[in-house]
Amino acid sequence: MLSKKALITGITGQDGSYLARFLLNKNYTVYGLIRRASTFNTKRIDDLHNNVKLKKKFKLFYGDLTDETSINNLIKDIQPNEIYNLAAQSHVKVSFENPVYTANASGIGTLRILEAIRTLNLKTKFYQASTSEIFGNTKPPQSENSIMRPCSPYGAAKLYANEITRIYREGFGIYASNGILFNHESEVRGETFVTRKIIKGLVRIKLNKQKTLLLGNLYAKRDWGYAPDYVEGMWKILQQKKPDDFVLATGKSYTVKNFIYKVCKNLNMKIKFKGKYEKEIGYNENGRAIIKIDPKYYRPLEVNSLRGNFSKAQKVLKWKPKTSFSEMVRKMVLNDYKEEVGSNNK
Ligand code: NAP
Ligand code: GDD
Repeated sequence: MLSKKALITGITGQDGSYLARFLLNKNYTVYGLIRRASTFNTKRIDDLHNNVKLKKKFKLFYGDLTDETSINNLIKDIQPNEIYNLAAQSHVKVSFENPVYTANASGIGTLRILEAIRTLNLKTKFYQASTSEIFGNTKPPQSENSIMRPCSPYGAAKLYANEITRIYREGFGIYASNGILFNHESEVRGETFVTRKIIKGLVRIKLNKQKTLLLGNLYAKRDWGYAPDYVEGMWKILQQKKPDDFVLATGKSYTVKNFIYKVCKNLNMKIKFKGKYEKEIGYNENGRAIIKIDPKYYRPLEVNSLRGNFSKAQKVLKWKPKTSFSEMVRKMVLNDYKEEVGSNNK
């Protein structure tokens, strides 16, 4: 049987790197869209890229979601069976600083792909990386039917992408589905997202490589799952007879502060918080201030509490998260500990 062809945008990102591996294991030929950068940006997939045995199964092409021509040509040349649109300016805080670019890449970028599928008259199945950020401050638990009222330029761009995906499905009969994913983390999570930032920072403090960790809002709640579990859900979404939208989540949520306590426990560190608001400080067992608040990490608007209801995915896709919160934190801490100790010995 001929192997299926999948195109992944955002293949150099956290999810793209896991999805590429998942699809290769399922015998897909994987095509990835990468951006040209002045430094190497393929660290997460270099082992695949440099593997001679994968030469025919794993191919990378330059392009950009803001560049219609590159998107059109790529889709026309590859004629993929499935497209996973994971590319985005994905940082919520950055989207307040770069709102127009965020709208262009994370919002209109989705439309560019859908238009290519439509005008080329392809049978390609399309997956859109939608997000729990589209719910904004709608009361948890949030499901596919909850009110969508985002609180950031990123959330607004993603809501546009979510809706244009539904519109192309309903209006043009394109197989197009949204995976509305709640936060998911891993050993290769970007270091500016709060989970990885906390772990890296506390590991480095433990190893005396860093004095303090600066953070923003400690009281926001997130539903944090493990990224490798979620890429399986993405694939399952595109294997359904009919296209549809699905929430993927764990159904549990924790504050940023809870996350800090959990990491400290894993590192055998004690932490005690004193003070309020911007003056809140976390002290270690020797009374040394190791966590401080820097208001520059506050957002003009905050999404206070996310907790997903994934019962539709459980029922229809037979999907549920496999990795517990504790196990995920343990894996991430171990990875960064090894990485930081390793970099000492280089
Ligand atoms: P990520 O690590 O930030 O990766 C984003 C990817 O998009 C990178 O490969 C990046 O390329 C690429 N990209 C950015 N702008 C682009 C452009 N203009 N043209 C082409 N590629 C571009 O994100 P992630 O955590 O893997 O998330 C994957 C997707 O799911 C994103 O769309 C994100 O918004 C969404 N999402 C994520 C979560 C989560 O918790 N992780 C939850 C819900 C939804 P470079 O490597 O060159 O920067
Ligand atoms: N990044 C960051 N840095 N966040 C901080 C910090 C800090 O120093 N201090 C506190 N936070 C808080 C943020 O205010 C937010 O409430 C929470 O930690 C999580 O922030 P992020 O890890 O940046 O993730 P996010 O929830 O804003 O967005 C992520 O999840 C979305 C799904 O809900 C991203 O992966 C998005 O792309 C994704 O759509």
